[in-house]
Amino acid sequence: MKQFSSIPETAEYLRNERNQGLTIGFVPTMGALHEGHLDLIRRSKRENDLTVCSIFVNPIQFNNKEDLAKYPRSLARDSILLEESGCDLVFAPEAEEMYPDQEPASLNLSFGMLDKVMEGKFRPGHFNGVAIVVKKLFDIVQPTCAYFGKKDYQQLAIIRYMVNTLGLPVKLIPCETIRDADGLAMSSRNARLTVKERSLAPEIYAVLLQVKKAAGNMNVNELKEWAINKLQEHTGFRVEYFEIGDKDSLMPLADWDNKNKAVAFIAVFLGDVRLIDNVELFL
Ligand code: PAF
Repeated sequence: MKQFSSIPETAEYLRNERNQGLTIGFVPTMGALHEGHLDLIRRSKRENDLTVCSIFVNPIQFNNKEDLAKYPRSLARDSILLEESGCDLVFAPEAEEMYPDQEPASLNLSFGMLDKVMEGKFRPGHFNGVAIVVKKLFDIVQPTCAYFGKKDYQQLAIIRYMVNTLGLPVKLIPCETIRDADGLAMSSRNARLTVKERSLAPEIYAVLLQVKKAAGNMNVNELKEWAINKLQEHTGFRVEYFEIGDKDSLMPLADWDNKNKAVAFIAVFLGDVRLIDNVELFL
């Protein structure tokens, strides 16, 4: 497995591979890899000649300095996991390599309402930072296919919008959320949960499954209220938002008229760890 931290070196290496007609599958990550990431790597390997993973904790997508400082970093361990999974190239740049100028990086793209609701509302500037780094990474790697987990449903919608609007020549592959045996969606942030918090965390998905069961039989607003109360019955949980939205526009749904497009989204603090999850209600 190759490991590069320089943009020109990575771009040059991949240009040669591409010129030989090889397809490139790309898995962008912020490291602290878990089974969810490795599942994306394995899928990319099945579907492409070459698999590239980037590891970069992107400072400009954190709207909270403390969250950035606490984000888990484990490059040596990540490299071993990637090597074992058969990844061909890791691109792990320093922040100065990605953002050499003093000027804050910008992207002249409006996402309409996609970045105004849910994560966009509670983490202002987050999706702009995600879009900038993903566009930069796509320019460097120039992948045939890029793999993103559906746990970050809104991120996927933003990237899809960017790819379509800018006409980027990459095929996006949405992948199902990978969960621990008790239902907790895998996330690098799970490593920061205390033992007690980790034992409570599966409640998030359990409530989402109960919402899926009740969807259509209960009024949307009543169901939202029920879900928030149900989770907050357990000491330790603080729900930031619980929303039932349209799978494409992400706009909140007021009724079940378009129920096949309904997705339940949640962001919740467990202690000081912020977790997100979602479930497609009628699929
Ligand atoms: O989902 C993530 O890990 C990040 O948001 C991404 C897509 C790698 C951009 O930094």
